[in-house]
Amino acid sequence: MAKVAFIGLGVMGYPMAGHLKVKGGHELTVYNRTIAKAEKWAAEFGGRAAPTPAEAAAGADFVFCCVGNDDDLRAVTTGKDGAFETMAKGAVFIDNTTASAEVARELDAAATAGGFHFIDAPVSGGQAGAENGVLTVMCGGDADVFERARPVIDAYARMVGLMGPAGSGQLTKMVNQICIAGLVQGLAEGIHFGKKAGLDIEKVVDVISKGAAGSWQMENRHKTMISGKYDFGFAVDWMRKDLDILLSEARRNGAKLPVTALVDQFYAEVQALGGKRWDTSSLLARLEK
Ligand SMILES: NC(=O)c1ccc[n+]([C@@H]2O[C@H](COP(=O)([O-])OP(=O)(O)OC[C@H]3O[C@@H](n4cnc5c(N)ncnc54)[C@H](OP(=O)(O)O)[C@@H]3O)[C@@H](O)[C@H]2O)c1
Repeated sequence: MAKVAFIGLGVMGYPMAGHLKVKGGHELTVYNRTIAKAEKWAAEFGGRAAPTPAEAAAGADFVFCCVGNDDDLRAVTTGKDGAFETMAKGAVFIDNTTASAEVARELDAAATAGGFHFIDAPVSGGQAGAENGVLTVMCGGDADVFERARPVIDAYARMVGLMGPAGSGQLTKMVNQICIAGLVQGLAEGIHFGKKAGLDIEKVVDVISKGAAGSWQMENRHKTMISGKYDFGFAVDWMRKDLDILLSEARRNGAKLPVTALVDQFYAEVQALGGKRWDTSSLLARLEK
């Protein structure tokens, strides 16, 4: 059992912190900007709610974090009353936010200077993956620190991998999002075409999902796409944040991402349709408007 802190109890962080307490059996202190959520969590799981990230992190062996973007991450780490003010020597800060590789390297350097450790550890698997404790976790950091953190991370994960030095977890998450962007557009076009052709899409998916066209998105999203239900899942706003991060990285490393850049523009159109919080499968709504 370790002393663990968790900063950011959103859609993802709330259940992840719950698994660290219940499945991991650790002693938990949580922080959330909107304090009511932290108090609700503490009442539900029996941990302690702290008023600032600094107070949550004080004395912890492992400090987890899952906030929105680079700026939010800086605010709760190196900002005023941030966790880095009180991190213990030798402790490990594990960041589950989807952020840039740049901020990961910056915080890794700040952690090293302060005598503690940093691991970037973005996740894949969505709200359901977080609630069921079966996320995929892509880590960047030192191998010996990773080996210490891994058994703790296991509480909310099905797959945990060390991808390389600091920033490598975020770079791997970028690959993940690049692979998803074009695929979802392809799925949307397939369903759109099938409807126009007068086919029974349920029947079509039932057959082709067993062949080479099958995918997680097809399995898990076709039903809601057919019925035009998008008020759940991974928000378009979040996807555009991720695409912005990875397109900037591609400008730096010279990678060519023509389809991903195009799909980013399609998502801008979905936002204009009112779909900022819609699931990313709402690319179909744009074709059907
Ligand atoms: N949702 C998904 O399916 C999914 C899947 C994979 C990865 N992710 C990534 O995981 C991260 C969190 O996503 P989420 O869906 O859990 O988001 P969310 O529900 O919007 O939660 C965001 C959390 O960050 C906190 N926060 C934001 N800005 C802050 C700031 N400046 N200072 C302090 N706290 C701040 C929020 O506090 P308040 O409660 O006060 O707003 C909230 O606890 C994002 O990077 C996202 O891209 C999400």
